[in-house]
Amino acid sequence: MTRTFAIKSYGCQMNVYDAERMAESLVADGFVEAEEGAADIVVFNTCHIREKAADKLYSEVGRTVSKAGDAGRAKPVIAVVGCVAQAEGAEIAVRARAVNLVVGPQAYHRLPAMLRDQEKSGAAGRNALVDIDMPKASKFDALPARTRRAPSAFLTIQEGCDKFCSFCVVPYTRGAETDRPMAAILAEAATLAQGGAREITLLGQNVNAWADPVHKTQDFGVLLASVAALPGVERLRYMTSHPRDVTQAMVRAHAEIPELMPYLHLPVQAGADRTLAAMNRRHDVAFYMGLIQRFRDARPDLAITSDFIVGFPGETEADFQATIDIVETVGYAQAFSFKYSPRLGTPAAERADQVDEAVKSARLHRLQAAISAQALAFNRRTLGLECDILIERRGRKAGQWIGKSPWLQSVVVNGDFAIGDLARVEMVAAWPNSMEGRLMMAVEHEAVSAW
Ligand code: 5AD
Ligand code: SF4
Repeated sequence: MTRTFAIKSYGCQMNVYDAERMAESLVADGFVEAEEGAADIVVFNTCHIREKAADKLYSEVGRTVSKAGDAGRAKPVIAVVGCVAQAEGAEIAVRARAVNLVVGPQAYHRLPAMLRDQEKSGAAGRNALVDIDMPKASKFDALPARTRRAPSAFLTIQEGCDKFCSFCVVPYTRGAETDRPMAAILAEAATLAQGGAREITLLGQNVNAWADPVHKTQDFGVLLASVAALPGVERLRYMTSHPRDVTQAMVRAHAEIPELMPYLHLPVQAGADRTLAAMNRRHDVAFYMGLIQRFRDARPDLAITSDFIVGFPGETEADFQATIDIVETVGYAQAFSFKYSPRLGTPAAERADQVDEAVKSARLHRLQAAISAQALAFNRRTLGLECDILIERRGRKAGQWIGKSPWLQSVVVNGDFAIGDLARVEMVAAWPNSMEGRLMMAVEHEAVSAW
């Protein structure tokens, strides 16, 4: 019997990558991908980073079950995978009886086999099968080779975290920091490029901490050069970097590797030294500003982005003002900002000096206004420049397409394109979250005019 599946993914880019690999392994096992409303199996690939992310899961599971009921279909088999699965384990099936499988981020290569077991035992309605192992053997060794074809592809090179920022669940949900071997990364990148990926984004929670587990001398700078040198790789990106893991080779890569895009996601989280210390970030503002200067010396047009948390326990008005100050000093091209969300099991959640919810909301609002102003200023600086954009999808209006600039701006352009084209445009209008480009000519290779 053919069994169809749909995957709904939440959270970070690594979850997007994991969802692709799950889909590939299910297809290799004879399952067929379908629309969510028609699938026999619905997989929720979950995120645990903030409270809301987990709450959403339970309402989505409920909705999926009732939609199937309304349509007169059998209840789909429901698998909860990813970080909520890891954090909450069997509890999930207690809270949501409709859930049949619970599978952690390091165990999803076993998902096809678990689904078959579940089918054999007719486990629907009985106890859920739970696998939140963090096995020593890497899931990557068990997953089938990449088959997905797309002009822009993610590739996980490093996973997990040993840094234990006091607000963060990642060390508990993704496990200890683990690096994939250089040979495996290059093989996967080559497969992706042969399948049509012109752009590859290397992923890791501390991507720049990567070092080859076999040849320790091969660091992240070496890896960037090696992936960029593969035939077909025209654009290279990476995220997320940690300030403490920046090396000179990594900085130099931005000056020396033409395929490496002028974009750096280097989260600072907050602008006050005392908040950074309380967050256990292991660096201060001066150290971070020194890094920014080094990167800008290497690549003056670099688009720098960050994540921010407002309302961390103990954050005063002056501490928060320091966060606004750092946004304005650095001049971020974009940034993600969040209200601090206490997570069970993390040290910051235990603190007595939690910030009032209304104060957090007001600060978030102010921070987002500051970020938006900086983003607009950055985008305006690119006006009049010529650059190549990688066409990703159609826009809302006929003849309109949306592509990504080297600085990861979304650029709207009119023309006759196909997804995956590199198109040369002149930047003619700027908004805080997007640009308008005017087509100059279709091009093959990346080359940015003067900044
Ligand atoms: N509350 C709010 N934001 C958080 N992040 C991580 N943990 C929390 C939390 N408990 C944010 C950080 C991180 C991004 C991925 O999510 O800014 O860089
Ligand atoms: Fe969410 Fe972090 Fe897990 Fe990504 S790694 S899905 S951001 S909890």
